[in-house]
Amino acid sequence: MPPPESETILYSAEEIQARVRAIARAIDADHQTEVPLHVVGVLKGSFVFAADLIRAMQTPLTLDFIVIASYLDGATSSGEIQLLKDLDSAIEGRPVLIVEDIVDTGRTLHYLHAVLQARGPSSLKTACLLSKPSRRAVDVPVDYVGFEIDDRFVVGYGLDHAEQFRHLPHIAVIEPPAAPPR
Ligand code: IMP
Repeated sequence: MPPPESETILYSAEEIQARVRAIARAIDADHQTEVPLHVVGVLKGSFVFAADLIRAMQTPLTLDFIVIASYLDGATSSGEIQLLKDLDSAIEGRPVLIVEDIVDTGRTLHYLHAVLQARGPSSLKTACLLSKPSRRAVDVPVDYVGFEIDDRFVVGYGLDHAEQFRHLPHIAVIEPPAAPPR
């Protein structure tokens, strides 16, 4: 594992904050009702993005987290998705926004979308900080995307490799681990 100094910075903290503010403005513009938007952060990777995003939003909101396991050891995909921690409250009839760190194959989001849609929210949208369109194996709608990136393994701003680097304020590329199978 390379030390932090050898990372290549892809997006600086300032660039990320500018995109986060733009996404927050777009969500505010789309969500014009008094009903609080129920924001669902997908742990662990989205915790930094979700924290910054909700503080940049003006719309009334409530917050919950869900824990999903889709990768083993941070890099190799098991192909299986497991719900490790469910929502604390029901979402039937409520507007819901899923906040994800990165959409890679799309399997995690596809699974989560299906699970939450089945509970009858009044609307279900998704905000992802990063997307790797060239890796997509499952077609999944993403309403708000921070940055579209090439097929490179990134860390920082909540994203990890083997649980490291989540604390970095920027997003960096590290030497890619073996690409997970689609
Ligand atoms: P998907 O189901 O293939 O779309 O995978 C989504 C999940 O894979 C994300 O929530 C991340 O946890 C993880 N992931 C995919 N690409 C990266 C990356 O470049 N860095 C860190 N985690 C990643």
